[in-house]
Amino acid sequence: MKRDFISMLDLTQDEIHQIFELSNTLKTSLKKGVAHKVLSDKTLAMIFEKPSLRTRVTFETGMTQLGGHAIYLAPTDARLGTRETIADGAKNLSRWVDVIMARVFAHKTVEDLAKNSSIPVINGLSDLEHPCQIMADLFTVIEKKGSLDGVVIAYVGDGNNVCNSFIAAARILGFQLRIATPPGYEPAGHYLEQTNTVSLSGDPRVAIQDADIIYTDVWASMGQEKEAAQRREIFLPFQINRSLLESATRDFLVMHCLPAHRGEEITDAVIDGPESIVFDQAENRLHVQKAIMTWLIERS
Ligand code: CP
Ligand code: NVA
Repeated sequence: MKRDFISMLDLTQDEIHQIFELSNTLKTSLKKGVAHKVLSDKTLAMIFEKPSLRTRVTFETGMTQLGGHAIYLAPTDARLGTRETIADGAKNLSRWVDVIMARVFAHKTVEDLAKNSSIPVINGLSDLEHPCQIMADLFTVIEKKGSLDGVVIAYVGDGNNVCNSFIAAARILGFQLRIATPPGYEPAGHYLEQTNTVSLSGDPRVAIQDADIIYTDVWASMGQEKEAAQRREIFLPFQINRSLLESATRDFLVMHCLPAHRGEEITDAVIDGPESIVFDQAENRLHVQKAIMTWLIERS
């Protein structure tokens, strides 16, 4: 049976660690200049309903490095659900290419793509989840901290797609996740079911107090641009700045999935400061997604 990666919940703990091991192998080989063309003659179709820098470049570069090829479909190209049904699009792509990555508005779009494809489908961000991001971020945390054992992660800001994927990962992997959001901006309720290592608070100082990792994301995600001005006011107490960081008691690292809105959710002094590992995270998108594609294709 083919496998998809639509949600963090699609993988078991063992499978996540298998992908991390492969990511490590691929990263080490690349650094040594050893070619790893395990996907030669394979093609990736990349469907984008929203803009991207990291996701597009890392998937495309990753496919090139693995010996395959990637096709970029801009928001004006496939227009699945408008130009033709999502199911018809999925059935066409399944006849030509070997794997699909889609960045979409509605999470159901990527679910429908997966349901109607005979090839693996990867969620490159939906309104509900950003699982490739969280895989790369947790791989980065393991690189820096040795493992996830005893690690406390604080997520400060909007209870959005990145936050939902974090919660799902905490449910599977069991690390401590402390979330702080303004009231009304908490993560999706059903993600919090069956989690016993996730706490919610309205106070960023409480969330970061004993954190090893302090993570934030934009206050208005793609598609929420009209709410941006209102959110800037509501979220101001959740800005990651030097004053807030005085409440942290452990040796912490700062993470952000990027793009950052400097001066909003994070200040220059923090994102450019000594604790920031944001570009290590961004680099690891490449290595981890190469592993995800290889792992899924090998099992399909
Ligand atoms: N973090 C991330 O997914 O970046 P892009 O939106 O640039 O792809
Ligand atoms: N939450 C952000 C993540 C961008 C990578 C968004 O959806 O726009």
